[in-house]
Amino acid sequence: MSELFPFSKEHEMLRSAARDFAQNEIAPIAAEFDESGEFPYKTIKKMGEMGLMGIEIPEEYGGAGMDTLSYVLALEEICKVDAAHGVIMSVNNSLYCFGINKFGTDAQKEKFLRPVASGSSIGAYSLTEPMSGSDAGTMRSRAVLDGDAYVLNGRKSWVTSGPVADFMVVFMMTDPDKKQKGITAFLVDAKKPGFIRGKKEPKLGIRASATSEIVFEDYHCPVEDRLGQEGEGFKIAMAVLDAGRIGIATQALGISEAAYDAAANYANEREAFGQKIGEFQGISFKIADMKTRIEASRLLIYQAALAKENSKITGQRYSLEASMAKLFASETAMFVSHAAVQIHGGMGYSKELPVERYFRDAKITEIYEGTSEIQRLVIARIELNQR
Ligand code: CAA
Repeated sequence: MSELFPFSKEHEMLRSAARDFAQNEIAPIAAEFDESGEFPYKTIKKMGEMGLMGIEIPEEYGGAGMDTLSYVLALEEICKVDAAHGVIMSVNNSLYCFGINKFGTDAQKEKFLRPVASGSSIGAYSLTEPMSGSDAGTMRSRAVLDGDAYVLNGRKSWVTSGPVADFMVVFMMTDPDKKQKGITAFLVDAKKPGFIRGKKEPKLGIRASATSEIVFEDYHCPVEDRLGQEGEGFKIAMAVLDAGRIGIATQALGISEAAYDAAANYANEREAFGQKIGEFQGISFKIADMKTRIEASRLLIYQAALAKENSKITGQRYSLEASMAKLFASETAMFVSHAAVQIHGGMGYSKELPVERYFRDAKITEIYEGTSEIQRLVIARIELNQR
């Protein structure tokens, strides 16, 4: 179906390079890294060399200088094979690089963007805290200005790539009385004193992507490493999440496609009661629903990618498009992977096939970068305010 779209030669070339890489280099190791929970440094490094870790970042700052559709097409190919590699790529591209490119100074881009966009270093984004997830404006971490540096203290949680990141954008309260308007964004260097990697999370899925707490203990962040102005942090965090949500929607699409392909093949092969199981309506109607929801997800993702591209010119928000894509694609990934396990019967529950991994990986797409409930809240608020 995606063949119907008039993609450029550059889009097709990038997609096919990402597909070849995913099939040849990630597919053979995906199950092993899922089992061990080890971070896939080698393949991530190669993805950086291919330009996949900063696709939309201008070449002058180490990126590939391509558009949002390119990012989505390449990410889909990676996620079809392994959602863990996919989230490392997505966070690096959209939660880290995108925000610095949009809100950073030239000096910040040189120092914090170039190494991560070029793939030689890894970037992360840290908003969530143990007591503030969906209600992101209520964080407790504090940054206090002391001379020409802010002193950062606090505990951040659920940081994707936290155990391995070289640089991070982190959000902290500079003026708690102002609530959300008292939040400020900072660019931090993991090598500096006061940056402490905390507990690594043992996870249900995307196990090869590393997630941890990060503790800040008197970390000194020079004023010139503050991203945007004091008090602008919440809006920066939200704007960056709009970009991130397109990435997670694409991750969900990749998982759905992988689970669907496996299920459709199995339905065509496996026989019961003297016929292929795909010939039973109980299975064939599932296949029809899976395929339809996958293609609807794809359309919402392409729409969101085009809206984001347009926003680079108009400055208009694309929160509605990003939230609709994430909501629908992530719920589709759960629906499709659940059905794929069911169609496989006992084999769907076995670690000998990747279907159970798709099922475990799908769940997080309904949770991180804004739960499905938060996406519904964002969509409804935008819609009702327009009427
Ligand atoms: N872009 C720019 N500005 C935005 C914005 C956006 N997308 N969304 C909101 N804002 C602005 C609003 O316009 C408003 O500005 P004014 O005060 O000037 O009017 C301000 O921000 C406050 O907005 P709200 O009143 O809507 O704020 P709220 O407290 O009601 O919260 C929310 C809104 C949608 C619930 C938000 O808190 C939210 O998205 N929560 C979920 C957080 C989330 O996704 N966390 C995941 C963290 S990352 C992660 O998962 C880990 C990882 O590593 C992958």
